[in-house]
Amino acid sequence: MLYISLVSGHDHGYIDLADAAAWPTNIAERVMTGELFVLRRCMQRLDLFDDLRAASLDGIRQVLGPEVSARVDAEGLDQIHRFASLEQIAKITDAVYRTTATQAARWVSKIVPDLLGVTEPYYFERRPNVRFVIPYDLMMQEADALAGVIKKHGHGKVTPHPPHRDSWVDCPTNLINIWIAVGPIPEGNGITIFPDAFGRTLASTPSGGLARDEHPGTPLNFDLAAGDVILFHGNHLHSSVLNRTESTRHVVSFRVVTEKPRYAGKHYHHYVHSSLAGGPLDLVAEWPANFAWGWVETRLIWIAERLGLTRRPGGRTNGAGRRPPSAPLPPVAVSRLSPGTIQPVSDDVCAARLADAKVVAFGRRCPHEGADLSFGHVRDGEVVCPWHDVRFDARSGKSACQMLQPLRLFDVQVEDDVVRVRTD
Ligand SMILES: [Fe+2]
Repeated sequence: MLYISLVSGHDHGYIDLADAAAWPTNIAERVMTGELFVLRRCMQRLDLFDDLRAASLDGIRQVLGPEVSARVDAEGLDQIHRFASLEQIAKITDAVYRTTATQAARWVSKIVPDLLGVTEPYYFERRPNVRFVIPYDLMMQEADALAGVIKKHGHGKVTPHPPHRDSWVDCPTNLINIWIAVGPIPEGNGITIFPDAFGRTLASTPSGGLARDEHPGTPLNFDLAAGDVILFHGNHLHSSVLNRTESTRHVVSFRVVTEKPRYAGKHYHHYVHSSLAGGPLDLVAEWPANFAWGWVETRLIWIAERLGLTRRPGGRTNGAGRRPPSAPLPPVAVSRLSPGTIQPVSDDVCAARLADAKVVAFGRRCPHEGADLSFGHVRDGEVVCPWHDVRFDARSGKSACQMLQPLRLFDVQVEDDVVRVRTD
């Protein structure tokens, strides 16, 4: 199988285009309309996979030496957490940022025409994004070790990212995300995309996450082999899966804009022009993208903040603050509670019906980051959080992640078809 195409607005199933001769044309235009592509073994096909992998191993060598790098090479990049502490993984992330940045112009000059079919000049983010997201339980044991790398490179690189659009974290509104699995990324790790939300108006928090009372729609998760690529518009709502596997997610992603980058928020990301980057005029490669009032305005705001003339925006909230209580919800009728769906019983409690018709009730806020579980679903006896794909056993409340609080469960009685929950 060489590639798979996913079409937004259809049934969110995979449309298997296994015929190598049918490599789609105009992929860039199709991505800009919201279409998603999962391209199997794409980097091998572009003859870039070995280079990409070598840059990652080189970063590991810089931090841990050639012996460890050779062992990771043999065991797989997804097993890096067996050879490095979190502090070392933070340093490796930094090192791989450096090794990939030096080659980004060359790689992108192959990816954009050969994969996206774009032959005109384009813009791309100067440094690719590098992610090493280790299993969640391990990450939480030394979470403080990651503070520095989060501050430098932002969330989503070594920690999970809440549902967001890239433009909410000040990236261009018109970018194509080229998300590359450098190591294998099984389901239970990786990225979630919410195709239903594409083009919808959604509220976000000041920190750039989805507002808690917004329904993200049906999630789409992926099972990827090393070298697979997901192509998606940066305005697709997407988030990180809380890593419940034994595998580290190692991803390098590029952001490309086929026209001048447009910004809805601040303009501080570094986009270079393809005809200048990596050449003798590399020093001025950012100028074409920065020739805009938004760039000047962002710098003026930055100066004003440092001079204390304006207040800086607050920190991350992820929408987890308490909401004011809403009006009482209508009673949940068991006959209208179809298996697999979740309905809110109150501001704090949800109910769901399992496949065997048993009705269960549980806390409405996910113990991880407070997502509204009434927007989630039940699958195989597990309550699935809509934000990070966290799964809780509907009968015990437990998840695969030992470092997470279990889901709070409540006793349920059914009277006259109505779900009644004891919350005392
Ligand atoms: Fe993103």
